[in-house]
Amino acid sequence: MDHIQVAIDGPSGAGKSTVSKAIAKALGIIYVDTGALYRTVGYYAREQGIAVDNAADVVPYLPEISIEVRYENGVQCVYLNGENLGDRIRQNEISMYASAVSAVPEVRAFLLDTQKKIAAENSVIMDGRDIGTVILPDAHVKVFLTASNEARARRRYKELMEKGMPASYEEILSDMNRRDEADRTRAVAPAVPAADAVIFDNSDLDFDASVAELLCLIQKIATEKGIALS
Ligand code: DC
Repeated sequence: MDHIQVAIDGPSGAGKSTVSKAIAKALGIIYVDTGALYRTVGYYAREQGIAVDNAADVVPYLPEISIEVRYENGVQCVYLNGENLGDRIRQNEISMYASAVSAVPEVRAFLLDTQKKIAAENSVIMDGRDIGTVILPDAHVKVFLTASNEARARRRYKELMEKGMPASYEEILSDMNRRDEADRTRAVAPAVPAADAVIFDNSDLDFDASVAELLCLIQKIATEKGIALS
């Protein structure tokens, strides 16, 4: 394997994306947010008027969806049929659509090559739900990043407020629980830790401490395996 692969899986709101971004920068590798791909398919499904409970109805539309991942000034941008969707895929409703389409085997198969190709061409820290189990089963380092439900809902609330997308804390908590349960119990690629993943719970850590401790952990695992990370 020529490139470095760090797999970060875990439930929503555990800080996968913010922490992984900081670690990518520290290690000089690319951060890949795979949730954005499912969000993009979910966005398309909603655009077609498909009900969130009938997510499999998106399957006949997959041949007309082109998804391209580009890095612009170090930031991952996802293009849907040539259009950069930006923060439109971050709406709460799209989170539910993303979870719904992610349980559809054809959607997972549709997004597989895009994810594998990025990791084959770059050194990556890739986050998602099945990175260590399905997408990069031979990743050098696998971490399952998690935190208590309340800590995760609080962070999501703060993040949405900062993005100017206010929502109620109670609603976020219940949506998050519903979505995590669906992600964890689905038949295909359930969101569970890989057998060889290290579980890292950051409920009691702030952002800086999470980054510092996780970076140490990643470097320790890499050193034990005789891998130079940067
Ligand atoms: O990480 P996120 O919240 O942006 O992900 C959105 C949804 O996509 C989430 O509910 C689960 C799904 N997902 C997945 O099934 N597999 C991935 N590798 C990434 C996300």
